[in-house]
Amino acid sequence: MSDQKLTIPKHIAIIMDGNGRWAKQRLQPRFMGHRAGVKAVEGIVKRCAQLGVEVLSLFAFSSENWRRPGKEVSLLMELFSHALNNQVKKLHENNIKLQIIGDISGFSSSLQKQISQAHELTQHNTGLILNIAANYGGRWDITQSVRQLAGQVARGELAAEDISEEMINRHLTTASLPEPDLFIRTGGEQRVSNFLLWQMAYTEFYFTDVLWPEVDFGQLNIAIDSFSRRERRFGRTSEQLQDDSDA
Ligand code: IPE
Ligand code: IPE
Ligand code: MG
Repeated sequence: MSDQKLTIPKHIAIIMDGNGRWAKQRLQPRFMGHRAGVKAVEGIVKRCAQLGVEVLSLFAFSSENWRRPGKEVSLLMELFSHALNNQVKKLHENNIKLQIIGDISGFSSSLQKQISQAHELTQHNTGLILNIAANYGGRWDITQSVRQLAGQVARGELAAEDISEEMINRHLTTASLPEPDLFIRTGGEQRVSNFLLWQMAYTEFYFTDVLWPEVDFGQLNIAIDSFSRRERRFGRTSEQLQDDSDA
């Protein structure tokens, strides 16, 4: 790694993939991989808070993950509930604001209650925003935003031709957050799997073969180092950016 100064992304979004394969390599049931994955989350959250990252979005359960065997789904729900039980107080003590994005109506009422309690407890915290995507799908998010706008049109509060990108953005579950600067996917697959589709239009992508339970500070540093070397042009030319920084 170079000694070039790291540019810390404001918002990092991660698909934490590879838990199942990590367990399989150890001849353990997949669930053990998910448990080890929760441990890795703790380390990465701590590191992001130290680095001054503003938002960390973690994909915990996709709207497609219901297709997994029922046993795995119910163990994942239990693990989620356990993690909330054990971690929320600690997050709160560390001034971390926890929010969950996704269709939480798909969860049991006790899990929904835990989620809203965690949200309530931490909502005024001013440190890292930990944004957990659970029963989340990028297409679902765009659809629910557009549905709200369609409701306004139907009630005569909004003209269809006035619908703008900005309005769609404002009704997404991430409305209050900056767009992700850096997207990381562990576990070797190079796909977006219906994560933050709208929000990642200009995000820098970083893929690694490292399985999620093995991710540590060092891996995060390598990803941020890679991000620091990118030139984010947002449609402009390299020369234009150069001119701006000289001015
Ligand atoms: C990611 O790990 C965690 C969830 C989707 C909940 P996987 O369970 O997808 O792990 P692999 O891809 O099978 O190794
Ligand atoms: C994506 O991982 C969702 C989460 C990490 C929660 P998957 O492992 O389910 O993704 P696909 O289906 O293989 O693309
Ligand atoms: Mg996977």
